[in-house]
Amino acid sequence: MADITTSQHGQWSSRFAFILAATGSAVGLGNIWKFPYIVGQNGGGAFVIVYLLCVIGIGIPIMMAETLLGRRGRHSPINTMEILTTEAKADPNWHYLGWMGVVAGFLILSYYSVIAGWALAYTGKAFFGSFFGENPAGIASIYDNFIASPWQQVFWHTIFMTATMAIVVRGVESGLEKSARFFVPILFVLLVLLVGYAMTKETYYFQGLHFLFSPDFSKLSGDSVLVAMGQAFFSLGLGMGAIMMYGAYLPKDISIAKTSIIIAAADTVVALLAGIAIFPIVFANGLTPADGPGLIFKTLPIAFGNMTGGWIVGILFFVLLFFAALTSAVSLIEPAVTWLIEARKVDRYTACLWSGLLTWALGVAVALSFNVWSGFKLFNQNLFGLVDYVTSNLMLPIGGFCIAVFVGWIMKQEDSESELALSQPHFYKMWKFSVCYIAPAAVFLVFLHVVGVL
Ligand code: PFF
Repeated sequence: MADITTSQHGQWSSRFAFILAATGSAVGLGNIWKFPYIVGQNGGGAFVIVYLLCVIGIGIPIMMAETLLGRRGRHSPINTMEILTTEAKADPNWHYLGWMGVVAGFLILSYYSVIAGWALAYTGKAFFGSFFGENPAGIASIYDNFIASPWQQVFWHTIFMTATMAIVVRGVESGLEKSARFFVPILFVLLVLLVGYAMTKETYYFQGLHFLFSPDFSKLSGDSVLVAMGQAFFSLGLGMGAIMMYGAYLPKDISIAKTSIIIAAADTVVALLAGIAIFPIVFANGLTPADGPGLIFKTLPIAFGNMTGGWIVGILFFVLLFFAALTSAVSLIEPAVTWLIEARKVDRYTACLWSGLLTWALGVAVALSFNVWSGFKLFNQNLFGLVDYVTSNLMLPIGGFCIAVFVGWIMKQEDSESELALSQPHFYKMWKFSVCYIAPAAVFLVFLHVVGVL
């Protein structure tokens, strides 16, 4: 509650440490793997504008709301919601919001780890020159053979999960914070190097910029708006308790508004830079931007295998993807780990072991859904597609909606006001207006569209 000043699990050592860790959580596969292909599938510039509007109008206010809940509760999202529900004398069912977050994190990590495993495997392929001189058919068959091998899928997923848990087990300062201090700056440098490379492809570079930034609204459908919103939640890491958890480790005197704006801006800049780095390579090689989840794995290696400097650019690219995924993965499992410590009174090591094993097991099922279990389909999707759709497009926006409603309507105004401690009263009013009306209404309208009412 308000008088709890630190979390039993630890605390960030500074404002900068929190910004790095939360940026590490936000910047991930969502920015480098997902954003470019989603932009490609939804027509380019117009989608980017809708995406930016979602980040500013809904994303930043909800990030502030989620961080303030975490800092006020100072526990795992489940116990934080229980504490704050009691404090606000609200319906106890609100604590299921914390549960939904922990379950969403576990579901997301199960497939996230499989794709991050691809990044690891492709770093090796790039290093050993597997893409040299290959034509599109050759690269496609490397991808198809890789996806079709259950053992390779499970192997790389296992390595990635082990790396993730090796960080989480070290705790807040020595694990989460130290890894963010190391990986996040490298990640930015790698990305800038790749953008520098894209700039050397002049005509294609401008074609890429044109695709990303010149809007054609006729290509935008109602579904694209849902996808843009889901992507904003996913990319900022909102609606599932990760940022609530990171907020629980935030010292009292740090401004939630300023840090939220910096984190959202960093995340958006990385997504745009990833697009700026990737599309010129796609266009320069006559590839299609709308190629779906395989975009960077099926198309970029063609370029890496045939361009000057492709060996090193290819390695850098996949290492970048791996680092980005790792700093996000730790935030996806941290809420479950802390809940086990709090509720089951186990040590961090045991909590990591159980939560890691459970996530690994579901991840194995996801890995197999690309090959031996590919025949198992629900709503025309394999397990990977299903888990991705349900988490990004349903659970995260519903989580965000509930967070906004709880902070805007249930929590006492003086409590949210004192947590945010904004210098200007009209900033508080603007934020409150967004969490009370804009964010819930936007999420609700998009859902009405999905169920066919609008
Ligand atoms: N934001 C991460 C990405 O863009 O890849 C994924 C993610 C992290 C989603 C943390 C949700 C979350 F809580």
